[in-house]
Amino acid sequence: MKTQRMLRLIQLTDLHVFQTPGTLLRGIDTWDFLTKVVQHVTDHEAAPDAMIITGDHTHDERPQSYQAIRRLLEPWQDRLWQVPGNHDDRHILRTVFSNRIAGESDGPIQFAFEAAGWLCLGLDTHLPGAVAGRICPERLLWARQIAERSPASRIALFCHHPPVLLGSPWMDAIGLEGRELIQNWCLSDSRVQLICCGHVHHESTTRLGNADVLTTPSTGIQFSPQGSTPNFVAGAPGYRRIELTPDGYRTEVVRIADLAIPQV
Ligand SMILES: [Fe+2]
Repeated sequence: MKTQRMLRLIQLTDLHVFQTPGTLLRGIDTWDFLTKVVQHVTDHEAAPDAMIITGDHTHDERPQSYQAIRRLLEPWQDRLWQVPGNHDDRHILRTVFSNRIAGESDGPIQFAFEAAGWLCLGLDTHLPGAVAGRICPERLLWARQIAERSPASRIALFCHHPPVLLGSPWMDAIGLEGRELIQNWCLSDSRVQLICCGHVHHESTTRLGNADVLTTPSTGIQFSPQGSTPNFVAGAPGYRRIELTPDGYRTEVVRIADLAIPQV
């Protein structure tokens, strides 16, 4: 395993980019917001070791949208790790980021790497044609087999759909089918200590076994868990900074508060 004292990660999630710049989603120019979030990372984060995107790269799933994201993230092309969300097309995502994503056309998009005493695993929860997600036994077996062979003392998972209920009727209705598979793993393996997700466009923390399950704000539009139907709110976009060390982890959500947020 690479002998590294700290791994500095940036998590971006739920970019929801359109192929035509200026296209609004609930009044927000998601491309403009993404470029400003990325500029903030460039200006304020000291050379991250990894950039992880936890799904919903685009809103329209068009090749041009993925290509624009690839150009924007060019400085991190050698340290980019990705999993798909419900608003992703595996084939197009894999084609545009062919330098980073191996495997077959529509096959699962996942990743595994070790650093700073941690094993980082990206899990594909994309369920074609659905807003909700699914983790199947084969995906979990892939992850657990890598974990069994790994000398890492701690494990971090990255996936689009949170593997827990959040107590929000409308968010939980579009949650993760098969989440009990991940939950059972967390309850049986104390090495699983961090799970970072997107999908719900807001920040939350849930405890699962020895793991913290964290959700991260979108780089574009924000949701509230309140209410019984999808609830868009005028919140600042952001990203998550994560530092992994052999002794544990530190994390913080960073909001870009000076962006003009239209009322929704
Ligand atoms: Fe999303």
